[in-house]
Amino acid sequence: MHSSETKAGESLKPWKNLISPLSNFIFISPIFMKGLLAICFFTAFSICCFSVLPSWKPPVPCPECDRILIYESHHESINSGPEEKTNFSHVLFGIGGSAATWSTRRQYCELWWRPGTHRGFVWLDKKPAKGDGPWLATSPPYKVSADTTRFKYTCSYGTRSAVRIARIIKESFELGLDNVRWFVMGDDDTVFFTENLVNVLNKYDHNQMYYIGGNSESVEQDLTHSYTMGYGGGGFAVSYPLAAALVRILDGCIDRYADFYGSDQKIGGCMSEIGVPLTKEDGFHQIDIRGSPYGLLSAHPLAPLVTLHHLDYVQPLFPGTNRVDSVKKLMNGGYKSDPSRVLQHTFGYDPMRNWSVSISWGYSVQLYPFLVTGKDLSTPLQTFVTWRTWSKEPFTFNTRVLNLGICERPIIFYFDGVKELGNGTTLTWYRRQNSHPMRRCNWENYAAAHLVKGFNVSAALLDPQEWRKAPRRQCSEIMNAADNVDGTIGVRIRDCSPWESVTPK
Ligand SMILES: *[C@@H]1O[C@H](CO)[C@@H](O)[C@H](O)[C@H]1NC(C)=O
Ligand SMILES: *[C@@H]1O[C@H](CO)[C@@H](O)[C@H](O)[C@H]1NC(C)=O
Ligand SMILES: *[C@@H]1O[C@H](CO)[C@@H](O)[C@H](O)[C@H]1NC(C)=O
Ligand SMILES: *[C@@H]1O[C@H](CO)[C@@H](O)[C@H](O)[C@H]1NC(C)=O
Repeated sequence: MHSSETKAGESLKPWKNLISPLSNFIFISPIFMKGLLAICFFTAFSICCFSVLPSWKPPVPCPECDRILIYESHHESINSGPEEKTNFSHVLFGIGGSAATWSTRRQYCELWWRPGTHRGFVWLDKKPAKGDGPWLATSPPYKVSADTTRFKYTCSYGTRSAVRIARIIKESFELGLDNVRWFVMGDDDTVFFTENLVNVLNKYDHNQMYYIGGNSESVEQDLTHSYTMGYGGGGFAVSYPLAAALVRILDGCIDRYADFYGSDQKIGGCMSEIGVPLTKEDGFHQIDIRGSPYGLLSAHPLAPLVTLHHLDYVQPLFPGTNRVDSVKKLMNGGYKSDPSRVLQHTFGYDPMRNWSVSISWGYSVQLYPFLVTGKDLSTPLQTFVTWRTWSKEPFTFNTRVLNLGICERPIIFYFDGVKELGNGTTLTWYRRQNSHPMRRCNWENYAAAHLVKGFNVSAALLDPQEWRKAPRRQCSEIMNAADNVDGTIGVRIRDCSPWESVTPK
């Protein structure tokens, strides 16, 4: 401690002692100041300042400092009136891409990117090859990242592109675009659900320093990299004032954390120097898992869906479709009609038959022809393994092991369509998918369940403002299980009443 102080003191140049306590001058009386100025003008300026301080150099240029000052005065003026809610125009996306992979990765980006509505750039390592044809208007515009060969990168199992991608936030900031409240970083295979992203960002004051995102699902990843960083593929958001602080030290961080694997980890290192922790939002999904994401998405935490990532590395979200089409089905289906509600989890019982029904809105319904506890229903089925070692555990959340006996598994129904009923409600329907080997199971339970062809689920549009309240899962009421009209069970999702709980009678 003491020795480092001495060291710092030794390295201080004498002129620094004169210049650095600049704030002292503010407290010097105006008369003294005037006198000082007069001396300066009567003697030559160079003598007054430079010959006394022969080693004086102009301060390192800090282009962002001007912008910070402009930003602060700008915000002072608008802080006096009520401020507009954050909308798409306030978010600047920085997508880490590469010229070689863009032609395939763009299909994920184009699922969510709306030209003219969203602002941002794909940052490439070099100009796209001529042979790739013209840059499409359906893609975000691109920029070529600055050269990064001067930076250190010493992680033996990573690639140098991490340095370039870490600097996207700095290069985005230095564009100096107007009216940016949030810098949102993502990979070229990150799918953003931007309505929900903006709604989540609206919860936070963009004039304060916020770093918002999520962790890896696989504990092995969080141990290797970090729990304290926002994973880049899951995407993370940095408020303007934090970005301003970050870009001042980022290049130094890149060298200091040269042994860190990823760009996101280097940013995380910098954030720990600034002292701003990650604000975790459960809707950012890194998807560091292998296998099927079904279990995770059918028991989504109580938070709006913000991102999905790594979709090339897991099975398609819906069976019988390719990966991209399966995301389209989620986006153009429930998400389009009721963005806040997509993947929201509710469950309930049919007390007449002792059935349990678990609904992930816009995605899937599970029917268990027996009673399953609320605790089990709210725990994701483990349809996946860990990212790096393909192990059964551990994850950053609990899972229900899928080697449930065959007769303990649910009958699965997948989202098939949505209709807006025009009175602030939607109807979604779900069709039977798996052929369950029921004959091996207790036939009494399964005979009736076998006849169920689908579910019709009605729900009021979920007001985005609900996410600002204390979270509570909604309730599902099974409407017509007893007569089971045309093999379709009707379910109504509604707020639970204050004393209601999903408890088997
Ligand atoms: C977004 O907010 C700005 C004010 O910052 C406003 O001028 C603009 O009209 C808003 N855009 C939309 C689409 O609501
Ligand atoms: C439902 O389960 C309860 C006990 O959990 C049992 O008493 C009741 O008979 C069951 N009803 C049916 C229809 O199976
Ligand atoms: C909306 O309309 C549907 C069908 O027309 C009806 O079943 C439902 O009760 C209505 N919901 C509300 C909240 O009025
Ligand atoms: C379920 O919804 C579909 C699609 O709107 C409709 O055709 C069908 O009649 C509904 N069935 C029941 C039982 O409500």
